[in-house]
Amino acid sequence: MKRVLLIVGGGIAAYKACELIRLLRRAGHAVRCVLTDGGAQFVTAMTLAALSEDRVYTSLWDLKDESEMGHIQLSREADLLVVAPATADLLARMAAGQADDLATTVLLATDKPVLAAPAMNVRMWQHSATRRNVMRLRCDGVTILEPDEGAMACGEYGPGRLPEPAAIAAAIERALAPRSRPLAGRHALVTAGPTHEPIDPVRYLANRSSGKQGFAIAEALAALGARVTLVAGPVALSTPPRVDRHDVITAREMSDAVDRALPADVAVLVAAVADWRVEAVADKIKKAGAPPTLTLVENPDILATLARAPNRPRLLVGFAAETSEVLAHATAKRARKGVDWIVANDVSGEVMGSERNTVHLVNAAGVESWEELPKRMVATRLADRIAAALA
Ligand SMILES: Cc1cc2nc3c(=O)[nH]c(=O)nc-3n(C[C@H](O)[C@H](O)[C@H](O)COP(=O)(O)O)c2cc1C
Repeated sequence: MKRVLLIVGGGIAAYKACELIRLLRRAGHAVRCVLTDGGAQFVTAMTLAALSEDRVYTSLWDLKDESEMGHIQLSREADLLVVAPATADLLARMAAGQADDLATTVLLATDKPVLAAPAMNVRMWQHSATRRNVMRLRCDGVTILEPDEGAMACGEYGPGRLPEPAAIAAAIERALAPRSRPLAGRHALVTAGPTHEPIDPVRYLANRSSGKQGFAIAEALAALGARVTLVAGPVALSTPPRVDRHDVITAREMSDAVDRALPADVAVLVAAVADWRVEAVADKIKKAGAPPTLTLVENPDILATLARAPNRPRLLVGFAAETSEVLAHATAKRARKGVDWIVANDVSGEVMGSERNTVHLVNAAGVESWEELPKRMVATRLADRIAAALA
């Protein structure tokens, strides 16, 4: 028996929440409802209470519940939070991190997984504000179901209908299922971020890598049960749960840390390692006379070295950030460096530091181009592929 906290928003499709409660109850789950003010315009608390066989929560300002911090209790006592129907307004308030009613306060206060089933007019669904909010929430880890396509109560046709209760119930079962851990017992090594190559004690050469994609991959691999070693260049990111992080500054430090982390079953080298470093690091260079000449020497090629190492990981994945002819360069890099997979992306736009990425997976089978996705979703998809390859 799992406990579902169902938040019912203010859309025509709120009546389908009633059927959803029945399906979840029949599957043996406990359902507790939060009804928004908007939701209460479409279904009554009485109906939801009767179907869920529990009281229904509507107000943040209930003296009795809030003397016990009721909004925190509600999320604490649930295994999963479900928003159905998730209105455009609720999605917007969730994405903005607002907490101006009981529903959004519970959603902001929770550390439990959240699943939202949107329902709205097709134009509201396709509006750039809603697109942005959905992308933002997915980046934050919220599972958002795609609405169905069809004739709508407003007389229009298109995507925006609430999925059928049975489909939402199935998605809820998937979200509640214990996560399978196909990478349990495997060691995954991930590098992320830039490296900084000192010029003198206060200056350095660097690049724009934020480390977000590599950190997301480390997190996704750990979520599948892998023991993850993350070698991170200088980035301002917090360590994902259950990940063993080693911070480094320079390419040579990163290379040493990678060596120390071996053996590994899979290595995913996402870091944007500086190709060159300054040959001789001087005392602080003074601004006097002509500008100094910096002599650069090559840094170790961590990916190519690992590909030739006697203890080469069984699966070696490299990243190729390119600004032109992405696929040609990625295919050539795969052959030249002797790696199994190259994940190529075009960084001529605003990928570095952004939350999204459009990548191509290049391997022996050819090229697979993925649609633009939040970096977290690129990470979970790649982790699933790695799990399949190592199975
Ligand atoms: C008859 C009617 C139907 C509505 N249906 C929807 C809907 O299906 N989806 C939606 O996002 N908003 C819909 N709205 C607008 C929402 O009710 C409104 O944005 C409300 O503030 C949402 O409340 P909530 O944030 O508590 O869900 C509808 C409004 C009316 C008057």
